[in-house]
This record gives sequence, C-alpha cells and structure tokens, in this order.
Amino acid sequence: MRMYDLIKKKRDGGALTDKEIAYMIGGYTNGQIPDYQMSAMMMAMYYQGLSEAETLSLTMEMAHSGELLDLSAIQGIKVDKHSTGGVGDKTSLALTPMVAACGVKVAKMSGRGLGHTGGTIDKLESFTGFHTDITTEQFVSQVNRIGIAIMGQTADLAPADKKLYALRDVTATVDQMSLIASSIMSKKLAAGADAIVLDVKTGSGAFMKREADAEALAREMVRIGNGAGRRTTAVITDMDQPLGFAVGNALEVQEAIETLKGNGPEDFLELCLTLGSHMLLAADEADTVEQARERLLAVIKNQAALQKLAEFVAAQGGDADMVYHPERLPKASLTESVCADKDGYIAGIICDEVGICSLMLGGGRETKEDVIDLSVGIVFRKKKGDVVRQGEAIATLHANDAEKLAAAKERLTRAVKIEEKPVAKAALIKQVITEA
Ligand code: URA
Repeated sequence: MRMYDLIKKKRDGGALTDKEIAYMIGGYTNGQIPDYQMSAMMMAMYYQGLSEAETLSLTMEMAHSGELLDLSAIQGIKVDKHSTGGVGDKTSLALTPMVAACGVKVAKMSGRGLGHTGGTIDKLESFTGFHTDITTEQFVSQVNRIGIAIMGQTADLAPADKKLYALRDVTATVDQMSLIASSIMSKKLAAGADAIVLDVKTGSGAFMKREADAEALAREMVRIGNGAGRRTTAVITDMDQPLGFAVGNALEVQEAIETLKGNGPEDFLELCLTLGSHMLLAADEADTVEQARERLLAVIKNQAALQKLAEFVAAQGGDADMVYHPERLPKASLTESVCADKDGYIAGIICDEVGICSLMLGGGRETKEDVIDLSVGIVFRKKKGDVVRQGEAIATLHANDAEKLAAAKERLTRAVKIEEKPVAKAALIKQVITEA
C-alpha cells in the first residue's frame, strides 16, 4: 500500500477501506507517513467528505492508536461529559459535582484552553494546589471513593488524534464535520466511560456556526458512540453569547460556586440541569427527565453538590476552603466597565470576540506554552434581549495591566450590539439527540 495512492483515491472522490485507514493512521502515528502527505489527505477529506463507514473506521483506528483506559475497576456506570467548546463554558465545574452528589460515577478527562475558548483544567487550577496529573490508578480509586475525578489527557491516549489535530490546526482543516466527530469520539472512546453526554455548541462562539451543521455533527457522534456500545446523548446548545455572565478562569469558578449555592445565572443553571438529567438517565439513576431535574435541584438546595465540589478539590490537592470562601480566589487589580452609549436592547454579543478580549487580558493562550493569568476576564451584567439605559454598565473587565485593559475594552465595546427595537431572548437548549 502507498500513501500516494490513498491520497489520489480520496482526492478523486473514492471511499477508503478499513484496511487503508488502518494503514494510514498506523503509519502516521509511528512517523512513517510524513506530515506533508497527511496534510494533503486532510485537505482531500475536507473537500470530499467521509462516508459513515469511513468516519467510524477513522474513529476506531485513532481510539486504538494508544492506551485504552480500563475503568472496569470502578463499580457502576461511569459517565463522561464533553463540550465542543465555548466562551464562559464553566459547565463541568458545577455539573460534575451536582451529578456526583446524585450518585453518578463521574470519570472525566479534561483539557486546557487554547485560542478563544477556555479549558476546565485551567479553571480548576484557580484553587491553590489543585492538579490533574494523577495516575490512572489514583483516578480509578478516587472515583470509587468519592464518585468524581478529573484528569488531564494522558500522553498515550489517542496519540494519532493528538498529532492529527495539531496538523489540522495549521492546515485549515479543523472545521470538517466528520474529522471533528472522529477526533472527539476517538478520545471519548479511549477514555473508557460507559456513557457519554455531549454538549454540542452552535452560534458565533462555536465551531458550528449554523444549527443544521451542529445537528449533523451531533448525529454523527451519537451514531459513533452508540455503535461502539456507549450510551451517547448529544444536546445542542446556544453559543451565540457567552454562557452565564462570567468569562475568565477564576471568575468562572466563582460563578460555578454561586450556582451550587443556588444563586447561579438562569441560562447556566438550565444547561447544568439539562446535561445533568441526561447523565442521570444514562447512569440509570433516574427514570425520567423530570425526576432527574428534581434530584439535581435537591443537591443544590441541601448543599450536597457544593460539599462534593469541596471534597473533589481537596482530593486533588486543592485548597477546599476556597469553595466556601471564593473571595480567596485569584483577583485582578484593575476593573473597568463597558457602558451603553444609548438606550435600547442588547441585540447581540459576538461570542468569539468576547473570548478574544479575555485572551488579550491574559486569560487565555495563543500558543500551548503561554502562561495564563487566572484572575482576569469579563463579567457581563446583561444578556441578549435585556433592556439597557444610556450610561449603564453592560460588562466589567478585570485586568492586571492598564494597556491590555484599554485594548480589550475597545474591542469589547465593538462586540456588543444595541438596538432600539425589542430583541427576542435566545433559546439555550435547541435539541436533544439520543439516536442518529
Ligand atoms: N475538538 C476536538 O477534540 N477535535 C476537533 O477536531 C475539534 C474540536
């Protein structure tokens, strides 16, 4: 077999066989197939698309390119949750303790932020001492003991995807539906959970700007997951404005803590209840969505979810006292607000622009090596559809550098649109998909 022939076949619209995909992924992972040939293949796939069979085959080969996490030593149904990424997406911080407090085993692998989107691990590191570099044995034993653990992606988990994703990132081949589906699902399958709940974002801050594309991606991932014997649910949710009010690592942690105390933003709480219900259903911890929601609300009310967060933070070396005293989280030295220049309604908040503003303040990474400032970010006071008066604050920037603050403020001002006519509020939950 020759890589040249496979590239030509795909370029001309042919479908690759399982054997050809196995040859390609094996050869690329072990370095025999060079980046330049794989780049050409990715571009051919980008334009020609992949069949269902090719997507499944690519996913399975990437999942099996490294270690498969064995979670069989954890009793019960293990549930994982994944978001396709967004701005202000602090969901895992509140959702995982809520679900764990209801008795579901949460064995989750998370990542760091890159570009305009944040990552759960960075956010959790706002708790002094918290770390995710735990061994698989520690991970398994912690889930058995307290029902929840989060670890960073091990070097040997789906290494083919790691290499390929980095290549796609620099060859303009990320935003192809089948390539995204196989990339995400290869990691989820290798991470070993029995059930997977996917939060597929759509809107200006998401990969999939159009809902129809998000739906196609969601269906593809559900097909792969269910086909591999993992109970998979996808929820399509709005990312046309930041989730909740806070964007930035420690600021988002604070908002997640407030949510667990019962004082969270409406949209963020709704997302946690929706995703959480499907996690409870997948783990056979509830029979209906309504029953699941009641249980989730109860663990907020009786503070069991807040205590579970503290227990989880302590188990991974963090200062759990910060859960009860969030004023001890990293805090920026400067604040300044963006105010409305006229009366009207918030017509839109360009989501990826908000992510870039947070990045400019130092809250994100341009490259993997960048060190981030956990304390900076933006706290909104308004959502799409809200009324504003001239001079009223729409958002407050938190910064440690006056120059960065001025530049981010100017950009954020341009990202918020005000109109004189009333604007409809955006629906957060768009669809729930359990079958492809
Ligand atoms: N996230 C991934 O893990 N892979 C993609 O291809 C896109 C988003």
